[in-house]
Amino acid sequence: MDLTGRVALVTGSSRGIGRSIAERYASAGARVIVHCARSHAEAMAVVRGITERGGEALALFADVEERQAVQRLFEDIDAAYGRIDVLVNCAGRNRDVPFLEMTDEDFAVTYQSQLRGTILCSQAAGRRMLSQAGGSIITIGAATGVRGRRNGANYCAAKAGVMVLTKVMALELAPTVRVNCLVPGYTETDEVLDRFNLRDPRKLAAHVSGIPLGRLALPSDIAEWALWLAAGAPHTTGQLLYVNGGAYMG
Ligand SMILES: NC(=O)c1ccc[n+]([C@@H]2O[C@H](COP(=O)([O-])OP(=O)(O)OC[C@H]3O[C@@H](n4cnc5c(N)ncnc54)[C@H](OP(=O)(O)O)[C@@H]3O)[C@@H](O)[C@H]2O)c1
Repeated sequence: MDLTGRVALVTGSSRGIGRSIAERYASAGARVIVHCARSHAEAMAVVRGITERGGEALALFADVEERQAVQRLFEDIDAAYGRIDVLVNCAGRNRDVPFLEMTDEDFAVTYQSQLRGTILCSQAAGRRMLSQAGGSIITIGAATGVRGRRNGANYCAAKAGVMVLTKVMALELAPTVRVNCLVPGYTETDEVLDRFNLRDPRKLAAHVSGIPLGRLALPSDIAEWALWLAAGAPHTTGQLLYVNGGAYMG
């Protein structure tokens, strides 16, 4: 899979799944924009790692929950590269809380970053991709956006929104832009290991027992499919691609 010369923005790529996708894209030849809102030092470290391996990367910072910040982010990309070929919407926050205790703020934190952020970035990228006659947008859903989970009303509802949004965008941006959704199962990032206490071997074993392929996903597993969706995936749009070791068969 080759992305030589393609310009790819991976939102939320200072760590976790986004970081792995940014690094994989760079190793496939893309000019990668490493992005985050707050963790600037981590993003700069990702850029340094990519450039030390001979890749091309630039760090840009913006809160995807703010329309004007997203507008400035894409103006900076216009100034740096004059085009955008791939957008991966990885930025997102979580805040687990029992449904009856969920406040407006608990809902807003997740909804604003996961769903509205995806909308704002995809609008900005979609307009540019239509005018340059091509592009690929990738969203990140979640198995729990289909089957739900305790304490995740805000997150599961936002991810369900992202997944159906993917189909709407695929319909409206076709045939010029392909839009597809990666749906990871539990993936080994610090955020998930900490939130679900999965550094405890017994907790981890309980989770893994429900995964036919016998382990959590690695960020690099998700990155391989993100590369395939960006560089290959002929005649494919509006699809949800489950990468979860068989834990949920969509
Ligand atoms: N890990 C899993 O098991 C799993 C499973 C299914 C789906 N997902 C989804 O996959 C995506 C990545 O997950 P992850 O585990 O890699 O998360 P993570 O390690 O917590 O990384 C989140 C990234 O998003 C950025 N971010 C958060 N809010 C932002 C905002 N408002 N504006 C700009 N950047 C923002 C963070 O940077 P700053 O801190 O600097 O803002 C960071 O770079 C998320 O959408 C998550 O819901 C994860």
